[in-house]
Amino acid sequence: MTSSGEVAVEVCGLTKAFGPTLALDEATFDVARGEIFGLLGPNGAGKTTTMRILLTLLKPSAGMAKVAGHDVTKDPVQVRERVGWVPQEHAVDPLLTVAENMAFMGGMYHLPPRAARRRSAQLLEVAGLAGHRDKVARDLSGGTRRKLELAMSLVNVPDVLFLDEPTVGLDITARRDLWSYVRQISRQGTTIMLTTHYLEEADALCDRVAIIDRGRIQETGAPGQLKITYGATTLDEVFLAATGQELVA
Ligand SMILES: Nc1ncnc2c1ncn2[C@@H]1O[C@H](COP(=O)(O)OP(=O)(O)OP(=O)(O)O)[C@@H](O)[C@H]1O
Ligand SMILES: [Mg+2]
Repeated sequence: MTSSGEVAVEVCGLTKAFGPTLALDEATFDVARGEIFGLLGPNGAGKTTTMRILLTLLKPSAGMAKVAGHDVTKDPVQVRERVGWVPQEHAVDPLLTVAENMAFMGGMYHLPPRAARRRSAQLLEVAGLAGHRDKVARDLSGGTRRKLELAMSLVNVPDVLFLDEPTVGLDITARRDLWSYVRQISRQGTTIMLTTHYLEEADALCDRVAIIDRGRIQETGAPGQLKITYGATTLDEVFLAATGQELVA
């Protein structure tokens, strides 16, 4: 990163305690504008906690975080206007159709109905969902439903998109299909931060990753560079060397 204008997410000494549990322990990392950045770690590592703080849904106990140039604690409204989020689970209304779910998001962001319809049609087209628009969400396959959730998170044209375990539970074909959709979103200029348990996914998709374990960032870097640094052939080996444990997906 050469100037602060190119930093999409800035995290410095970020700490979150839930009572005696230190969910996040002085985490520090940056995400450059336009990057696909992966936060990798086992269950309970602090991935969702990090994301929730960056989305202004949770207050940090200590430390600083900025998203799209705005401090999450001091300027939460400005942050919220610039982010999109696909939570770990339950992002669609299963009883609404694909088009109705998109319209709901348009309403959430106060888009005029006509603009919302136009934006929704474009997003469904790019996601390959145009043929599903009148299907009820609960009848979609897991992969198609996840794509709908991504499309919904793009209604307000976010600068930074947060995806919490976007492909968990999907088979490899559906995962690859979702990866190509994520790459397409990235090419259109959105910075993407995702969490995953799948090291293969991080390797295939992410420009850079941070390895997090028990609330502490153990390592950050490009997957290829980390493999060189650790003399490893896979990210699994890097993970083992950096944390002393295997990440079993
Ligand atoms: N609201 C909460 N109250 C108390 N403890 C919490 C709360 N949210 C998270 N924690 C704890 O903080 C730690 C980090 O949780 P977090 O959900 O961030 O992990 P994660 O890396 O997203 O895990 P997973 O892979 O299972 O989604 C865990 O020990 C968790 O039990
Ligand atoms: Mg989580």
